[in-house]
Amino acid sequence: MAHFILLGLHFISTFVCIADTTLDLMENTPQEHEFDASDYAPRTNREPVVLIPGLLASALESRKIGDTKYDRIWVKLRRFLPPKTNEAIQILKPIYNEKTNTYHTFSGWDVRPIDYGGVDGVTVMDEHLSAWTKSFENLINALKAVGYESRKDMFGAPWDWRVSTVDQINTNGVSFLLKELVERAYNQNRKKVVLVAHSCGGPLAQQFLNTYVTEEWKAKYISQLICVNCPFGGAILPISYVMGRRRIAVPGSESILNHLTEEMGCIYWMMPNPLGYDMDEPVATMKKSGENVTLSNIYKFMKEANMTKQEIAMQHSQKAMAASTSHPGVKTTIVTSYGLKTPSLVELDDSKEGAKWWKELVTEINGDGDGTVPLQSLKVPHSWKKKDSDILNFIEYKGLDHSGPISDKNALKDFVNLFSSE
Ligand SMILES: *[C@@H]1O[C@H](CO)[C@@H](O)[C@H](O)[C@H]1NC(C)=O
Ligand SMILES: *[C@@H]1O[C@H](CO)[C@@H](O)[C@H](O)[C@H]1NC(C)=O
Repeated sequence: MAHFILLGLHFISTFVCIADTTLDLMENTPQEHEFDASDYAPRTNREPVVLIPGLLASALESRKIGDTKYDRIWVKLRRFLPPKTNEAIQILKPIYNEKTNTYHTFSGWDVRPIDYGGVDGVTVMDEHLSAWTKSFENLINALKAVGYESRKDMFGAPWDWRVSTVDQINTNGVSFLLKELVERAYNQNRKKVVLVAHSCGGPLAQQFLNTYVTEEWKAKYISQLICVNCPFGGAILPISYVMGRRRIAVPGSESILNHLTEEMGCIYWMMPNPLGYDMDEPVATMKKSGENVTLSNIYKFMKEANMTKQEIAMQHSQKAMAASTSHPGVKTTIVTSYGLKTPSLVELDDSKEGAKWWKELVTEINGDGDGTVPLQSLKVPHSWKKKDSDILNFIEYKGLDHSGPISDKNALKDFVNLFSSE
């Protein structure tokens, strides 16, 4: 009996921290977002839509190499139950090779996004925890209510966020598949395609449009890009995972989280970058010495903490992000929210005698933003380089959270009007 309870506790804490990670990076302070199908009526003028999710918001499935069937792993409660807990964590935790700048999955296993092209991989991560692991669920329901159908004029482009970063997508298949999918969406509907990108999906789409396809391709296939709360300047939250330990709900969760995210490319991709932060602006601060961590000196701190792989991973991502200064070359709408408490500075704990600050729990200091991404990062598109012909529109919501513009009952009605009508 005692043994069973212990196993149960271990499982619950593991799962809670995984669910909470999703929640933290997708929507730090989840608001209740209602959806009401009666707000919508069928529309005849519908542009085909491709949905590009953010970090942790693509569902994943895995199989042992040699097996024929894949089984959902992100997220499926049963896969994390003892005695399988460690196996599940091992499958999810990517391995980074800093010499080749490539990521791979634990040997013997194969992981891929669920239902590429359809919407099953971008709706919710776990059906039993839908309130906590929602990706595009409300938007998908709204689109269905106006007549959209999965794989007909509504498509999902989930991607394996564990092993993809901004500097990987053009070589690891993500851009290749996205290009094919857009062409299919166009050919099936004979209409230009709308890309809807949430969170980290925005920098991904920008990179794809600016570096993978030609001007002619964009003019032929893309109607517009809509970016919803996209961290073009990075975020502060990843610093808590990389440079310290972040505790979520359950004591002990910080070491599991630290282990899981250690070599996860997307965490380094989302570190603050020079588009959102001045090189000498503090992104973290030392509790005792008062020393500031900035983009100019951050690698010195990583060296002190022996984070060699992490430093290299971050340098690659920073380089690609810092080069992403241009308007994507298609009509672009930037939708952002602000007015919520958002982690904006991390306090690292160097106050304990003989302790290592990078192994201590961090404290986050809040500023303005959407609850997950700081406002200054969301505002980066205001300074994109653009030609006179480039169209760039802004829509802002006060008080909505990170997914609010594509989840909130009222905001959603406006959103659907951006690409469908009577
Ligand atoms: C750290 O940055 C803050 C804010 O920019 C500044 O006021 C403070 O003097 C800096 N601390 C050190 C030790 O440089
Ligand atoms: C850094 O890593 C090296 C080699 O793995 C090890 O010998 C050294 O003790 C580590 N230093 C710290 C501060 O952890």
